[in-house]
Amino acid sequence: MENVGVMMTTPMSAYLEQQLQQRFTLFKLWESPSPTQSLTRRADLVKAVVGDTKIGADSELIDSLPRLEIVSTYSVGLDKIDLEKCRERGIRVTNTPDVLTEDVSDLAIGLALASLRKICACHAFATTGSWKNGDFQLATKFSGKSIGILGLGRIGSAIAKRAEAFGCNISYHSRTKRQTKNYRYYSNAVDLAANCQILFVACSLTNETRHIVNREVIDALGPRGVLVNIGRGALVDEHELVSALCEGRLGSAGLDVFENEPHVPEPLLELENVVLLPHVGTDTVETSMTMADLVVANLECHFLKKRLLTPVI
Ligand code: DGY
Repeated sequence: MENVGVMMTTPMSAYLEQQLQQRFTLFKLWESPSPTQSLTRRADLVKAVVGDTKIGADSELIDSLPRLEIVSTYSVGLDKIDLEKCRERGIRVTNTPDVLTEDVSDLAIGLALASLRKICACHAFATTGSWKNGDFQLATKFSGKSIGILGLGRIGSAIAKRAEAFGCNISYHSRTKRQTKNYRYYSNAVDLAANCQILFVACSLTNETRHIVNREVIDALGPRGVLVNIGRGALVDEHELVSALCEGRLGSAGLDVFENEPHVPEPLLELENVVLLPHVGTDTVETSMTMADLVVANLECHFLKKRLLTPVI
């Protein structure tokens, strides 16, 4: 398939780059001093775009590629793709669901444990000599807590399954009520937050869910509440989150995602009641390779005129 031009939008994984290079003519959007200039020269050759959670396929990119047939994103999230435009132009879209569910939900539990048990602060205490002067302050127990999950999709359900093993009581709010035996459903995010101690944000980012965690939800969670976000930064009103954490209106937060990545709001850097990660939910050796294989397999299926493995459109 060397005659097929594939455009990678940003460096994602060396393995993915190598796999694409072996099969297609690979263009790297970030290698040119002026992406638009480079695009005009290569546009006619590009039939596929591989994007990710940093740079996907927005309307400008899609408009500049007249022969684009497929967008294969190296992520489960679709918020960086102009799906409407893809629909209009008949461009196929694939993502990488399922293969990353375990890693993201493992990390969500990790963030809850790190926040409640103050793992990062404990590490600093043990490694900076403070231990000599006395014991570390008491932390908060995780097992048996009431947890709320915003979005009971693949990742939300996997978080619930893991939390069950910790003896947690599980509630959720989702677009649709699920048939679940043991989980309590709330019809809105405020009621969910008011009835749990740890709120996990695991829904996808759409126009409807942007800032679903607003001031009202944060205040309902309260000064002893913990917010864990492994979904997307813009699901939470970050300005409100920062004020609530600084003013003690929210207990603590474990965040893998931010509104304007890679920007982390400055006031958060000073706080002890936060655990901050650089959007690494899927970043394990195993899962990044499996995701890359799925991206490539979807492209091969498309260009060999076979059924796509994980089609979105
Ligand atoms: C994805 O793949 O969309 C997620 O951001 C993983 O963290």
